[in-house]
Amino acid sequence: MAKIAVFISGSGTNMAAILYASRLADAQFEIALVASNMADASGLELARLEGIETFVHSHKGHSRAEHDAAMEAAAMEAGAEYLVLAGYMRILSDEFVARWEGRILNIHPSLLPKYKGLDTFARAIEAGDSHAGASVHVVTPELDAGEVLAQARVAIAPGDTPESLGARVKLAEHQLYPRAVADYVSRGSDPDFLFAKLRDLALALPETHERESHGSPGFRAGSEKSGKYFAYFSDRHHGSDHIAVLVKTSGMDELLNLVEGQPDIYYKPAFYGASGWVGVILNRPDLDWDHISEWLERSWRSVAPARLTKLIDAADMF
Ligand code: GRF
Repeated sequence: MAKIAVFISGSGTNMAAILYASRLADAQFEIALVASNMADASGLELARLEGIETFVHSHKGHSRAEHDAAMEAAAMEAGAEYLVLAGYMRILSDEFVARWEGRILNIHPSLLPKYKGLDTFARAIEAGDSHAGASVHVVTPELDAGEVLAQARVAIAPGDTPESLGARVKLAEHQLYPRAVADYVSRGSDPDFLFAKLRDLALALPETHERESHGSPGFRAGSEKSGKYFAYFSDRHHGSDHIAVLVKTSGMDELLNLVEGQPDIYYKPAFYGASGWVGVILNRPDLDWDHISEWLERSWRSVAPARLTKLIDAADMF
């Protein structure tokens, strides 16, 4: 179960939606902490009432770095793996965001990339848009600019004011945010997500293509006609618990070394293991995609025609 810290500054209705979602039977996350820069944020009371740990640190009289450090320390102490910003009215420093890269989410009341920043409802009405909405995105140093994970659309009525429209967008946000958080924190064990990432990396190598083999997707180097497999995707195949990529080692010695030395990362797959293919586990918490890339390239090199490996060697020199 993923642990999240929710940062709020105000009413915290999104935090409440996330909190009650975390209490449902199939929840993917739990709230380890609700933290705020405003001691009177009414969301804090609700969190306390529901037995959630809270933390308050006023930003007044502190530098951004000091304030961020206090919030970060509290989140880490609570064991949070992700930070979920829900109406948190402070901009986090670039250093803070870099330390939590890919692990901070925010909800913004517009259909991004439209209307970053403030007054989003007034701007959507003014522009004559048919729909407003909300977006959940990954937080990057640039404001409201990280990857958009999910959106909810809300129709704009003829007589809408920013307030009336905003009230309906809130309702949509309360549906959207808990779902987006759940999908995001569980994507490390979602075969579709893992396969999509793997496919991007495999097909980025020169002259590669995808081809199914015994019901599993595989990737080949060389021409469609005479290409050779350098990777297979395995989704809990043959009774294994792992979602993995199978790649070629130099042989049984190396394979057994890896499997015995790092059993959290490697395993010997059924059938393929006998000919020196190792399974590199993808559904594990500390997965490093650069490591997967290195394996793909190495495996690709071992089967790719020399004219192609020369090409990549030349590229590597720059
Ligand atoms: C929401 O409208 C959200 O889009 C924005 O801040 C507001 C937070 O509202 N980032 P609440 O505190 O969750 O009620």
